[in-house]
Amino acid sequence: MLQRHKADANGDGAGPAITIRREDYSAPAFWIDSVDLTFDLDPNKTRVLNRMTLRRNPGVAAQPLKLDGQDLNLARVLLDGQCTSFKMEGQRLVLNHLPSVEEHGTAPFALEIFTTCCPARNTQLMGLYLSQGSFFTQCEAEGFRRITYFLDRPDVMASYSVTLRADKALYPVLLSNGNLVASGALEDGRHFAKWVDPHKKPCYLFALVAGNLVAREQKIRSRSGREHLLQVYVRPGDLDKTEHALQALVHSVAWDEARFGLPLDLERFMIVATSDFNMGAMENKGLNIFNTKYVLASEATATDSDFANIESVVGHEYFHNWTGNRVTCRDWFQLSLKEGLTVFRDQEFSQDLADSPSARAVKRIEDVRVLRTTQFPEDAGPMAHPVRPDSYIEINNFYTVTIYEKGAELVRMMHTLVGRAGFARGMKLYFERHDGQAVTCDDFAQAIADANPASDLARLLPQFKRWYSQAGTPCVHASGSYDAASGSYTLTLRQSCAPTPDQADKQPFVIPVELGLLSASGAALPLHLAGADSTDSAPASAPTSRLVVLTEAEQTLTFTGLGSAPVPSLLRNFSAPVVLDIETTDDQLLTLLEHDTDAFNRWEAGQRLMLRCAIDAIADGANEAGASSHIGHIGHKVLSADLIQAMRSVLRHPTLAPAFKELVLTLPSESYIAEQLDVVDPQRIHAVRQAMHEQLALSLHSDWAWAWEQHQDSDRYRPDAPSAGRRALSGLALHMLCCAARHQGAPLWPGKAYQRLKSAANMTERLNALSALVANGSELAAPALARFHALFKDEPLVIDKWFALQAGTPDRAGNRLSAVRQLMQHPDFSLKNPNRARSVIFSYCCANPSAFHRADAAGYVFWSERVIELDALNPQVAARLARALERWKKLAQPWRSAAREAIARVAAKPELSSDVREVVNRALAD
Ligand code: TRP
Ligand code: ZN
Repeated sequence: MLQRHKADANGDGAGPAITIRREDYSAPAFWIDSVDLTFDLDPNKTRVLNRMTLRRNPGVAAQPLKLDGQDLNLARVLLDGQCTSFKMEGQRLVLNHLPSVEEHGTAPFALEIFTTCCPARNTQLMGLYLSQGSFFTQCEAEGFRRITYFLDRPDVMASYSVTLRADKALYPVLLSNGNLVASGALEDGRHFAKWVDPHKKPCYLFALVAGNLVAREQKIRSRSGREHLLQVYVRPGDLDKTEHALQALVHSVAWDEARFGLPLDLERFMIVATSDFNMGAMENKGLNIFNTKYVLASEATATDSDFANIESVVGHEYFHNWTGNRVTCRDWFQLSLKEGLTVFRDQEFSQDLADSPSARAVKRIEDVRVLRTTQFPEDAGPMAHPVRPDSYIEINNFYTVTIYEKGAELVRMMHTLVGRAGFARGMKLYFERHDGQAVTCDDFAQAIADANPASDLARLLPQFKRWYSQAGTPCVHASGSYDAASGSYTLTLRQSCAPTPDQADKQPFVIPVELGLLSASGAALPLHLAGADSTDSAPASAPTSRLVVLTEAEQTLTFTGLGSAPVPSLLRNFSAPVVLDIETTDDQLLTLLEHDTDAFNRWEAGQRLMLRCAIDAIADGANEAGASSHIGHIGHKVLSADLIQAMRSVLRHPTLAPAFKELVLTLPSESYIAEQLDVVDPQRIHAVRQAMHEQLALSLHSDWAWAWEQHQDSDRYRPDAPSAGRRALSGLALHMLCCAARHQGAPLWPGKAYQRLKSAANMTERLNALSALVANGSELAAPALARFHALFKDEPLVIDKWFALQAGTPDRAGNRLSAVRQLMQHPDFSLKNPNRARSVIFSYCCANPSAFHRADAAGYVFWSERVIELDALNPQVAARLARALERWKKLAQPWRSAAREAIARVAAKPELSSDVREVVNRALAD
């Protein structure tokens, strides 16, 4: 059966979509000790011979063996070398007549299964597929069942040996997990390679690659003196773009050993890049497979953020080698066990590599910005789920920012509660206890707590674990009052959490709040916390920042010894993933922006000030009749003169890092502003933000010109944090100057941008110039786009940027949607390639709110057509797109009704995948 039966929503023949529940977990009835796979690779008919050794799990009552399978053609099943009877239950292969417990006990038996599959027709990119003539696999979460019949669950761990056979001219390189033990020629121009993985693994970590590839490689020596070979495989033309990824891998290996004592446990570690990939990358044991986007970089084709992303994704996949592979997940509900922890580790890796306090703060701000603009909305919408979910229909839909980014914040809170050294101790205990096992989120938290018995984490562990079980973003409301007579400041902190689907009532969370107090003039004040300090602590030695751990719905803190009302600085470095609702005046925020010792809160103060202005301006407009039709009438006075002056001070500051300045001077995104509102008028938000942008552009015109001149690089290109920061700030300046030029009708800056587009020596500056022209609707945008395309027509990752920029540009003339439809007709467009589909369709539907949310609903019609069209090819990618409208209930009319109708139109299709079905059903549920 090669064609997937779409009506069979779980794809396993079990009938309608089935909800899988965490509480239903039971251990497998059989173990698979070893697997010997032989592949005869052929695009149209690949033969797979699977010889396994199994035995009954003595801990589980005897039952038939049920092997998962999907879209396989079954040719033969042999039990201990003999034909045996079997039946199909949906797509599952069921063996009823195995050696009985009475006769054989739990002695091993051999099963041999021969199947074929068709990689050339695999458009879902799960299982074995073809990409540009080479074979690749993707097995996480449940793709291995598309390669052979198996117990496709992460708690079944086996030893693998793999023989690959293929045409030698077409597929000269044959790779799989572990070590190469044999290779050689076969008849008819074919050849073979045999790989043996020395480590047991769950089948989701299996991988093979076969094709015409070349590698950049480097030998390294670990601390113990062991030698390892690191390789990065790409298509022959891409070899010159692999040095950065290889060095990122070298750094990753060294970092995990230095910071956590975790060495590379393989002689050979390989990364392979493919341009057809559903996600970012995959941590298959010893054979990571990457989206080309996270491998290939040269200064001519990749931006500074591409370079940074490559470093962090290479790190992420490598760190999985311990957190995910050596210790894996018992079941998919525990996904954050590996993903949250590994994201935390890659974030720390990037911070440690950046190595300056300011660059660390910049990275933290960027990470928090992702969390707040993507995870907070998820946690407030119909797809909200706990970091350890209780149920799912399609596991692919649960590779979410909640599992990844919020999961990383939970690990970070543990790190905060036990300290850096305590956390390292906890990791050590975690591996002592669980190396080689498939475990749960509870096991991880327990190990960190047990290694730190005197910590707040150990004391509060059961309550802390509510972070794993309760969905939704907690809100901490803070109000302070100063009593001049006693010189004391009382801070009242109240926490609450709104209901989420299936969870009406929430219990209080453990919330670590790092805090400090400033004087009105900005001095850091010593903190004397009543009832917490030992009596003999000398006033002068009191700390100016401290950690307070909230556990109750409401708590009051009293600080003494204060000569005047202080300015509170709460949740420093974003010490918990909460919304902080704090009563502060603009003057207090200006003080924090100028003086806080905590860089995160300095940035946060600026964002709060701008957000306040935005929300006030939006509310003003909402009181007028037909608000959104008056979008042209927002004056240039959304930001106060004081705030403009404060922004100028930051921009001109003599010592602040350029990267930090760029973050402060970047307005909160439209989606973050929308998050703060109960009812969302996307056009109004866009108009207000645009007005703020123009006000910054015009009021700070000479400052932007200064910033542009001051932050030019003459040196050789380097993607390090300081030089990337300079380019980020000069890029923002160029945008602002082109924006101002549009208002002044002055051609100087667009002319300079065009000049830069022609002469730039690196992609960061070239793309900044192009986007300044395109975003501001310059007359030079069209020739600039044409020139850019001609220059990079043979660089798919750059062409993705070219598409994304056009599809993501705000609508000026009401024609963005027709431009997007036209882009889909471009000869370079392909719906089958996920990167390309994302660059056009997602850029428009998910990253261009003012063009997408059209009053005539045409954007939504386009969305529903694309969801349905993509679903037939690639359900995973389609389901991501389907989520673009999940917050429809927050929209104002007429968008709200139109969005609902569009979702209902998708839901009405009888032949949807379980992926898309789950998303639209949840969106429509009450
Ligand atoms: N485990 C991968 C990671 O490092 C995620 C991943 C890659 C994935 N490809 C996938 C998950 C396909 C599901 C399906 O984050
Ligand atoms: Zn991961």
